[in-house]
Amino acid sequence: MTAIIIGGTSGLGEGVAQALVSKGWTVGITGRRLERLESFQQTYGPEKVFTQVMDVTQDDACDALDALLRQTGAPDLFLHVSGIGYQNPTLEPDKELRTVKTNAEGMVRIVNHFIHYALSCGAYTPEHKAHIAVVTSVAATAALGSAPAYSATKKMESTYVTALVQLTHMQKWPLLFSDIRPGFVATALLNPDKHYPLLMTREQAVRHILRGLRRRRRVIVFDWRYKVLCFFWKLLPRAIWERLTFVNN
Ligand SMILES: NC(=O)c1ccc[n+]([C@@H]2O[C@H](COP(=O)([O-])OP(=O)(O)OC[C@H]3O[C@@H](n4cnc5c(N)ncnc54)[C@H](OP(=O)(O)O)[C@@H]3O)[C@@H](O)[C@H]2O)c1
Repeated sequence: MTAIIIGGTSGLGEGVAQALVSKGWTVGITGRRLERLESFQQTYGPEKVFTQVMDVTQDDACDALDALLRQTGAPDLFLHVSGIGYQNPTLEPDKELRTVKTNAEGMVRIVNHFIHYALSCGAYTPEHKAHIAVVTSVAATAALGSAPAYSATKKMESTYVTALVQLTHMQKWPLLFSDIRPGFVATALLNPDKHYPLLMTREQAVRHILRGLRRRRRVIVFDWRYKVLCFFWKLLPRAIWERLTFVNN
């Protein structure tokens, strides 16, 4: 089995890549940090790990993906994890715009390019579909005042996946999608000086992700506390939600 993980140099992507290689998968991982790609390949072996430097915000990211696909062949799983996020209560423009460029534009660029590859490579059939998964966030289900661009781009990613699922049904494409929505996970994305409610370890999160992917879940929310939270906050009237301040810590 083969997986491509876009954003496998740290955090959730690296954790999933490590777990899959340990289970005997071949993985192709990307990221901007060459030294982290090289170190991962040295640890797990060049016969099991292929790497490619890629910045999803750049036009040449699609060439980088093609170069990786030439090494791995058509993967069973295509996992898009790359993303950035900030709490930005002072609305620093640079942070907001970088977040949009990476999470929204970058994800569309890469997932779109992979779909074109999947539809033309001849490797996928109704019996063997390409499994495309995108790590969004529980933030996709709520607008967070302390992280406007982050929550908006996560909702955009999630909506994009939903639209792709409908399009796939319309076109009868041999594709399968998962929308992975973690709650807070202790990775470099979070500010180590802040307190995050219901924080999970990376190992816990990786276990949830792998279980959801194995079961081909369309939406993977974890853990159960976030499922409950999402259920209730979706019921709140907008006027009440807009006056809440609990997420600004
Ligand atoms: N941690 C959480 O609490 C949490 C909760 C919900 C959702 N998520 C989502 O999980 C995903 C992974 O985040 P993480 O928590 O694992 O944080 P992380 O350790 O900072 O990982 C982020 C990954 O994205 C890659 N990346 C960032 N900008 C990129 C760019 N311009 N081009 C290519 N790759 C880029 C990074 O690689 P390079 O730096 O090497 O490029 C790294 O591999 C994100 O989409 C995030 O929104 C995280």
